[in-house]
Amino acid sequence: MEEIKFVNINRFHQLIWPQLHEAAARVIDSGIYIGGPEVRSFEEDMARWLGVEKVCGAGSGTSALYAILKGLGVGPGDEVITTVHTAIATAEAISQCGAVPIFCDLEPGYFFLSTEEVAKKINSKTKALLPVHLYGQPVDMDGMMELAHQHGLPLIEDCAQAQGARYRGKYVGTMGDAAEFSFFPSKNLGGFGDGGAFTAKDPAKFNIMKMFSNHGRKEKYTHEFEGINSRLDAIQAAMLKVCLPHLDEWNSQRRRVAQWYGEALGNIKEVVVPQVLPGTEPIYHVYVILVPDRDGLQKFLKEKKISTGVHYPMPLSLQKAYSRYGLGVGSFPRAEYACAHMLSLPMDPSVTKEEVERVAMAIEEYIRK
Ligand SMILES: Cc1ncc(COP(=O)(O)O)c(C=O)c1O
Repeated sequence: MEEIKFVNINRFHQLIWPQLHEAAARVIDSGIYIGGPEVRSFEEDMARWLGVEKVCGAGSGTSALYAILKGLGVGPGDEVITTVHTAIATAEAISQCGAVPIFCDLEPGYFFLSTEEVAKKINSKTKALLPVHLYGQPVDMDGMMELAHQHGLPLIEDCAQAQGARYRGKYVGTMGDAAEFSFFPSKNLGGFGDGGAFTAKDPAKFNIMKMFSNHGRKEKYTHEFEGINSRLDAIQAAMLKVCLPHLDEWNSQRRRVAQWYGEALGNIKEVVVPQVLPGTEPIYHVYVILVPDRDGLQKFLKEKKISTGVHYPMPLSLQKAYSRYGLGVGSFPRAEYACAHMLSLPMDPSVTKEEVERVAMAIEEYIRK
C-alpha cells in the first residue's frame, strides 16, 4: 500500500514544474541574486493580490515579525500579548526585541487565542496585540480590532499559516496595523527554502521595518540605524511569483479536503473535528483533530503508512526556552489539553477523497479496537 504523506509538495507543484524551473534558471542566468527586479516584481504581485499598498519580502516569517515589532518601537519593558499555542517564532520575535510575550489560552472550542483572555491581560506595559491565525483559521478579528481600538494598541496579524484565509470576506493580513507571512516550504504559499514577507498600514513605519530588514539602510553603505540581514532571495521571489496565482485555488482544494474529512469523521463520536468560526473562510494549513489516545493512534496510522503531525506537542508556557516566566502545568488548561490530544492529518491541495477515506477508516479501526 502506498504511503499517504503528511504534505505532498511535489505532487501539487507538479503542474507548474516547467515554470518553476524556468524561473530558477532565469535568476541563475541573470547574475542578480539579492534584491533587484525579481524581488520587486513579486512584492508588487503580492501587494496587488492582498489588496494592500506595499509588501516587503523578508528572509523568513520570524525575521519579518521581528522587523514589524522593531518598526512599531517594541523594546525592553514592553509586553506584547499573544497566544500560548503557536510556533515558537511568534514569541521569539517579541523577546528578541527585549519585550515579554504575554500568553493567552485558547478560545473555547478553537485553537486560536481567547479574546476574553487578551482583554484581561492588557495593562499599561502592553505595547501591541499579536494574534495568530493558527492552522489557517482566522481569529476573532472583530474582538481583536475592538480591543486594539479601545486601548490605542497596534494590532499585528501573524499570518504565517493563513495566507489567503478570509475574515468577513477580507484577506487576513489586511485588517491589522501590520501583518507577517511565512514562505517556509510547507506553508500554503511555500517557497523553496526560507522566506517571508510583511506589510504595514503606516508608510513611515513600513519604511523603518524595511530598512531594519536590510541593515538599517536605504542605500548601500549609508546606515541610519542598526538592523539585520532579512531579505527575500531573488530566486525565492521568482519561484513564489509562479506559485502565487495558484494560491486561492490550492486553498479551495484544501477546503474541499477538509469537507471530506468532516464527512468521513463526523460520525465517530470520539473524534473532534475542527470548528469554523462563523464569517470566516479558513485555509487549513493543517487539519487538526482531537482524539482520546493521540500517541497510540499516531503509531497505528504510521503502521498503516499514513503520516501525521502534532502542531504542537507542548504549549510555549511549558517549553524550557520559557521556563524563566515560571508558567507551570495548569497555567493554560485548554492549550495543554489540546496539545495532549491533537493530531494533524495529511493535508495539501492534492489529497484525494480515496486518501481521506483510507485515513478515516484507519482512525475508526483504531478507535473501535
Ligand atoms: C504561526 C507562525 N508564526 C511564525 C512562523 C515563522 O515563520 P518562518 O519559519 O518562516 O520563520 C511560523 C513558522 O513556522 C509559524 O507557524
